Amino acid sequence: MRKFSDPLDLASYRKSLKNSVGFVPTMGALHEGHISLIKESIKNSDNTIVSIFVNPTQFLQGEDLDAYPKKIEADLKICELAGVDAVFLPNIDDMYERDELKITAPNIKGFTLEGFNRPGHFDGVLQIVLKLFGITKPTKAYFGKKDAQQLFLIQNMVKHLFLDIEIISCEIIRQSDGLALSSRNIYLSEDERVKALLLSTALKLATKMVISQELDSKKIKNKMQEVLKDTDIEYIEIVDREFNLLQKVEIKNTIILVATFVGETRLIDNIWI
Ligand code: PAJ
Repeated sequence: MRKFSDPLDLASYRKSLKNSVGFVPTMGALHEGHISLIKESIKNSDNTIVSIFVNPTQFLQGEDLDAYPKKIEADLKICELAGVDAVFLPNIDDMYERDELKITAPNIKGFTLEGFNRPGHFDGVLQIVLKLFGITKPTKAYFGKKDAQQLFLIQNMVKHLFLDIEIISCEIIRQSDGLALSSRNIYLSEDERVKALLLSTALKLATKMVISQELDSKKIKNKMQEVLKDTDIEYIEIVDREFNLLQKVEIKNTIILVATFVGETRLIDNIWI
């Protein structure tokens, strides 16, 4: 497995690759969720590149940029065992100039939900993903449905900028009790881990309601709110796959999303219905 920290070195390695390239961007502290994206890429592409970069521009003041979990040695082992061809571990100074070009997430879709609660977050995500696409020029790039709004905005960016990259969306990987895997789960104490389960419990309850023909968003959100009452709810929302708010669930066109704080840890989860 090759390792690169200089973007230009990776770009010239990329040029030497004749066949398809799958790309999996990550911020490291890899878990089964990331691994599922990596495996998907290895299955479908001749070459797989993984990036590990805790991107400062997508963190807001006061967020966990400095505390963000780092496990570089373990991450490299995971990539190697999975059969990744190249890992990109850039330094901040090699990715950003002082006077940087800015990308702004589209107004309506970029500033609701996650974007509303974390203003500027998606600007940073799109900025780094576009840079990484420029370096790796992937045939396909893999993103998790766990970050549903991120996935949607990246699909939009690729479309609006006419980038010749296929965005592959991957299912949410959960622990056996339902907790969606996240690098931030390691912040949770034992008690908080129990509370964190309420996110998937609330989403399961919402699914049950839909199965029993209760499609009214308000009623579903109220029930979810009850389940999550011991957490500090940021939002519970029901949207279509284009992130328009829905009064009524539309089967096969709905995402139910939740963001909540358990202690100091902000957790997000969602279900596609
Ligand atoms: P990170 O949080 O490390 O996630 C990297 C990718 O893994 C994202 O596409 C995310 O949706 C996916 N992922 C995380 N947890 C998952 C789970 N439980 N199941 C399935 N997929 C999961 O998302 C980012 O990094 C950054 O914003 C990035 C795109 C790398 C830009 O900096």
